[in-house]
Amino acid sequence: MTALRPTLHQLRVFEAVARLGSYTRAAEELHLTQPTVSVQMRELAATVGLPLLETRGRQTAPTTVGEALLAAARGMFDHWAAFEMLVSQTRGLQRGRLRLAAVTTAEYFLPALLAPYARAHPGIEVQLVVENRDAIVRRLELDQDDLAVMMLPPEHLPLEAQPFMDNPLVALGPADHPFARGGRITLAALAAEGLLVRERGSGTRMATEEHLERHGLRLRTRMELGSNEAIKHAVAAGLGLAVLSAHTLGPDPSREGLAVLQVEGLPIRREWRLVHRAGRVLSPAAQAFLAAGRAAAPSPRAPAAAAARPARPARVRSSP
Ligand code: PGA
Repeated sequence: MTALRPTLHQLRVFEAVARLGSYTRAAEELHLTQPTVSVQMRELAATVGLPLLETRGRQTAPTTVGEALLAAARGMFDHWAAFEMLVSQTRGLQRGRLRLAAVTTAEYFLPALLAPYARAHPGIEVQLVVENRDAIVRRLELDQDDLAVMMLPPEHLPLEAQPFMDNPLVALGPADHPFARGGRITLAALAAEGLLVRERGSGTRMATEEHLERHGLRLRTRMELGSNEAIKHAVAAGLGLAVLSAHTLGPDPSREGLAVLQVEGLPIRREWRLVHRAGRVLSPAAQAFLAAGRAAAPSPRAPAAAAARPARPARVRSSP
């Protein structure tokens, strides 16, 4: 059998006529004249060698062969649309901008995620804003960024929040603290010591407070410090104990003068999430970063966090 050679244009006209049941309406939709539509349909029928459309009452409808052609044409259009999408995504990844906002604790692992992304997409300019949770929530309210990296997405906004990695929060003490000598400490004993805590608005502080409350305990603040590093140095200097993300620790906490304490009910098991406003159309650059987050999430390095593993990639809605 000789190959049929309809043009893409003829198939588009045919699909419109079959869908709308009328040459006139197809002509209107495609901004063509009615005679042009008739000529195209005659030529298509001649190419196929069989009638494709017939008149039923006042409607134009596909014949049995026309129905089969309609299915084939729609399948081709779908494949073509997928190809066009690929082209536009590839072009969009050659040049563009990725605006990321991350809570301060994410700065410990985000560069490791960004490095392969930046190497793969040298034309994408990355802008990274690092603030505490409250500030990132305000940015989400204003929809200022493509993606936010955080642990506790707010409940009051319609968001898509994709977990991509575990975030265990561990108790830290100075390496020579009695609590660091082994044996398990109760959560109540830890709380009774009073903690070095981050500023109000910090997600780490919020998660710690919530965890203690769930166990009927109150957060006693010994000192408030404005960064994870300040807390680590203060703990090492013997100013008190703290609860921080295991991601803030280097490969050997003892070299930083720190010990991860074995406390009942700890670590607090949380997850890092890639978050954006629901309904936001993500740029190709943002979509590629979401995919990279899913695929290349590093694990926290601290020994106590050895159990931490990349979370099952799942799409959850934080709130309706
Ligand atoms: P933060 O980060 O304590 O720096 O705010 C933790 C979070 O909110 O995920």
